[in-house]
Amino acid sequence: MGTLRTLNHLSPEGKRVLLRADLNVPVRDGQVTDTTRIDRLLPTIDELARKGARVIVLSHFDRPKGKVVPHMSLGPIAEIISARLKRDVHFVPNCIGPEVEQAVARLKDTEVLLLENTRFYEGEEANDPEFSAMLARLGDVFVNDAFSAAHRAHASTEGVARHLPSFAGRLMEAELSALSTALENPDRPVGALIGGAKISTKLDLIGNLLEKVDVLFIGGAMANTFLAAQGVAIGKSLQEADMHETARDILTKARENNCEVVLPVDVVIAEKFEKNAPSSVCKTSDIPGDKMVLDAGPETISLITAKLKDLKTLVWNGPLGAFEIAPFDKATVAVAQEAAALTKSGELKTIAGGGDTVSALRHAGVVHDMTYVSTAGGAFLEWLEGKLLPGITILTDAAQHVIPL
Ligand code: 3PG
Ligand code: MG
Repeated sequence: MGTLRTLNHLSPEGKRVLLRADLNVPVRDGQVTDTTRIDRLLPTIDELARKGARVIVLSHFDRPKGKVVPHMSLGPIAEIISARLKRDVHFVPNCIGPEVEQAVARLKDTEVLLLENTRFYEGEEANDPEFSAMLARLGDVFVNDAFSAAHRAHASTEGVARHLPSFAGRLMEAELSALSTALENPDRPVGALIGGAKISTKLDLIGNLLEKVDVLFIGGAMANTFLAAQGVAIGKSLQEADMHETARDILTKARENNCEVVLPVDVVIAEKFEKNAPSSVCKTSDIPGDKMVLDAGPETISLITAKLKDLKTLVWNGPLGAFEIAPFDKATVAVAQEAAALTKSGELKTIAGGGDTVSALRHAGVVHDMTYVSTAGGAFLEWLEGKLLPGITILTDAAQHVIPL
């Protein structure tokens, strides 16, 4: 991969800067329930505007599948950005066409304009060259700050970058630098904690991590499959019975790579997955046939936290148990709090992200105590899988052959 050009390499004054953001924030009953993605984008908008750019913000929102879906409009988000940025943010209910072109032409230096959901057009997800060119004509340069959408080769993440000098925004830069701290050039020993329900969705990720980390902690229902694959009776626990051979192959590959795999040695079991269901603790060798595993047990918590003390870097993805329901959140909370304490005292760098991870860390009250928490779900996972993300590849020097419009 070539080197990334950042805002340090751009003089944006007087330029129309097309800025790809990821404003795909969670919404319930019309209210944004988590503004993290908006908040983390603000420094880039603010820097560009302060330097005299005309900032034109592009984003997708949800999955309208090429149609105009009114409740997936970005209109309400413009107001949130405006309030947080303490600047006016203009909004046009389209992302291409005459109305947009006029709004862009009217835009003055330092002003910010948000365009409507790019996924209202089929050309977005199809990465249609014509649609990309229409977007690209709105700007003089392209800045991509949407790391969390960089695994999508869409018109506004990839196609536009073919036509304009392209740069990484500050959030993109921070995400990539955190991931490189974690996996490309980590302080060793480095560990990864991977939880969640299914091995099948995390196979590539585990395969890639085994070659890079010294210790791999496996938790969540995924650990049940590994235990069962080794002949442990796991009662009624959730598992993927068709993945036993794969699980054994992973353990063999780990041994070949000198990667220590840590599985639960004791577990919290219950008859049902229900809030406050009566539960008890047993060794993994003693799981009764009529019970299911819902969390890692206290000995496992001690084992993991002891090993964390020897690490310099930790990558965290996924919960260790069914943390959404008490009391099956104990292992996730205890281990997250230990990682946070070690991180705060400077002994450990913890980089977290992907899927349920942020809600698990928030539940443990430590989301602000990690070295870095990614704003990305799928993109973070694909990066851990070792994949090249199209939205990033196109930003690198090697790909900077601008196709004239
Ligand atoms: C995300 O939230 O994962 C990104 O915004 C990408 O959205 P998508 O998964 O709908 O492509
Ligand atoms: Mg996604």
